[in-house]
Amino acid sequence: MGKKLIITIDGPAGAGKSTVSRILAKNMNYIYLDTGALYRALAYKALKLKISLEDVSALTNLCSTTDVVLKNIDGQMKVFVDGKNVEEKIRTEEVSMAASKISTFIVVREKLLNLQRETGAQGGIVAEGRDMGSVVFPHADYKFYLDAQLDERIKRRYKELLDKCVSVEYQSIQKDMLARDKQDKQREIAPLKAPDDAVTIDSDNLTVEGVVDKIISYISIK
Ligand code: DC
Repeated sequence: MGKKLIITIDGPAGAGKSTVSRILAKNMNYIYLDTGALYRALAYKALKLKISLEDVSALTNLCSTTDVVLKNIDGQMKVFVDGKNVEEKIRTEEVSMAASKISTFIVVREKLLNLQRETGAQGGIVAEGRDMGSVVFPHADYKFYLDAQLDERIKRRYKELLDKCVSVEYQSIQKDMLARDKQDKQREIAPLKAPDDAVTIDSDNLTVEGVVDKIISYISIK
């Protein structure tokens, strides 16, 4: 059996990272790590406790008193907060914005860093997020940066929420996505950016399968 690789996929919200990473991991029989879910999980608890998302001491306390664990369920790492699987609760727009907000704080990023690194330590992982190639796995075997035009990303996110029967206004997705792009790209610590050694893939005119094929072809020829 060949070496078990670490593959990172970074990019903005709505670029298609999750779907592509999940399929790629399945094809390669690798673990799929959705790191956004970790930030979402902490944000969900902060919202539930009505903690101010800008209060660093409250967030520090939240981090030290919250147990965040990843469990491998059928090849996908699911997040458990204080013993509970929170997957069903963390996909709302409110949690998206809150996750983006708290992820600007170093105490939050540090809490989640080791957990991510430990999960990828043995290789055999497709890790998806904002700083996978730049900070969490700087020595990854393959790094990809998945991007798409803002309009296309808004359309995808809108459709995804409608498919889940979440009622939402197109304009509010647009507003949230612009705010999230800005916050994720301009924060001081581990901002979203394409690592210098990443392959950038523009997914505007590609199907999900098209993006996966492109990544696989790159992995096989390098
Ligand atoms: O990928 P996502 O939409 O589930 O991520 C939610 C937020 O979490 C995102 O807007 C910023 C933060 N995040 C991060 O800062 N670093 C990561 N590696 C993943 C997500």
